[in-house]
Amino acid sequence: MVRAKVFLVLFAVGLFAAGSLAVAQDFDMETASQLFEAKCSRCHSVDRPKGKSKTRDEWSSTVKRMQGKMAGWFSDEEAETIIEYLSRAHGK
Ligand code: HEC
Repeated sequence: MVRAKVFLVLFAVGLFAAGSLAVAQDFDMETASQLFEAKCSRCHSVDRPKGKSKTRDEWSSTVKRMQGKMAGWFSDEEAETIIEYLSRAHGK
């Protein structure tokens, strides 16, 4: 009986892990990259961010700082996508 319970718990953990993996893979790097190129090349070339590697927190503050330079140029939701993209493609 104890064995069956352990098995059930492991099975549930396994399902949970598989679920988070599916969510993680759901992120569309291709679309995010296009959004990044479109929004971050307005004032300087995208080589500026591309030449850096930062942690997620650092990218988050950079992107929000850039957002503050021109109100309305990209939305909070777009900022989140760009932060996700940069921390994956140019993370540290
Ligand atoms: C409204 C104009 C503008 C837009 C749009 C803009 N930037 Fe910038 N960016 C600047 C200016 C001006 C500087 C130089 C001064 C500074 O660092 O604040 C800069 C500097 C930078 C730097 C070098 C400094 C650092 O903090 O590492 C990075 C990286 C950067 N931008 C990334 C981005 C990203 C990523 C985006 C898109 C989310 C973006 N920028 C959009 C104006 C902009």
